[in-house]
Amino acid sequence: MDSIDDQIIITKDGSNSLKSRFLNEQYHSKQGAVTEAIHVYIESGLKQILSTNVSILEMGFGTGLNTFLTYCHSNNYSKIEFDSIESEPISVETANQLNYLSNLDKLDLQPIFEKLHTCDWDKQIKISEKFHFTKWNITIQDISFNKKYDLVYYDAFGPRVQPELWKPEIFKKIYDALNDGGLLVTYCANGQFKRDLSSIGFEVRAIPGPPGKREITQAFRKK
Ligand SMILES: C[S@@+](CC[C@H](N)C(=O)[O-])C[C@H]1O[C@@H](n2cnc3c(N)ncnc32)[C@H](O)[C@@H]1O
Repeated sequence: MDSIDDQIIITKDGSNSLKSRFLNEQYHSKQGAVTEAIHVYIESGLKQILSTNVSILEMGFGTGLNTFLTYCHSNNYSKIEFDSIESEPISVETANQLNYLSNLDKLDLQPIFEKLHTCDWDKQIKISEKFHFTKWNITIQDISFNKKYDLVYYDAFGPRVQPELWKPEIFKKIYDALNDGGLLVTYCANGQFKRDLSSIGFEVRAIPGPPGKREITQAFRKK
C-alpha cells in the first residue's frame, strides 16, 4: 500500500469520488458518482439482462460502488456471480471514509461494503446466498478469462489518461469471454472506441448518458 492515498472529493449529487494518486484523474463524474453509477451500470447494464442467473465482470473495482450497487439489487436474481479486476486497490481506511452508505440510505449494509473491500483476493467469496464475489488483483491486460460472462461493466479511467486500456485487443478478449447476447456497458462514448467495438463484431448502441454526459455505450455480442 502506498503511503499517499487517493484524495476523497464530493460530487454534485453529494456522493464521494476519488482522485487517483497516480493519474490525477477522477473515478466518477463530477456531476454525481452515485447518479452516474446507477444510470450507466445498473439501469443500462444489469437491468437489461433478462436471465435470473447473471455472471458479471467489472473492469476497475475502485471504490466498490458498482459492486455494492449490484449487491443491493441481487435479491431480484437467483444468483449473481460478480468478478472484479483491480490492479491498484485503495486502502480499507479510504473505503471506510466514502459516504455511499449514507448517500444510498443503506447504513445497515456497512458490514457488506467493508467485506467487499477486506475479503481475500483471487478467490470466490460468498457475500450472500445470491451474491458470489471474486476480486482479481491483476491488470486487465494480464488476466485470462476462464469463464463466460453475461455482462461487463467497463469502468477504466478514460482513453485520454489510459489509452492502453481502450485498445481493440482488450475488447476482443472481452468479446471472446461474453456469452452470446452478452452486453458490455461503459460511460465512454469515444468515436474510435465505438468503431473498434463494431470491427470486433459487437452491435454498438449509443444511449443517453447521466447528467453532464450526452451519450454512453452499450455493446452486445450478437446471438
Ligand atoms: C474509474 S476507476 C473505477 C471505478 C469503480 N468501478 C468504482 O465503482 O468506484 C478505474 C479503476 O481501474 C483501476 N485500474 C487502472 N489500470 C488498471 C489495469 N490495467 N487493470 C485493472 N485495473 C486498473 C484503477 O486503479 C481504478 O480503480
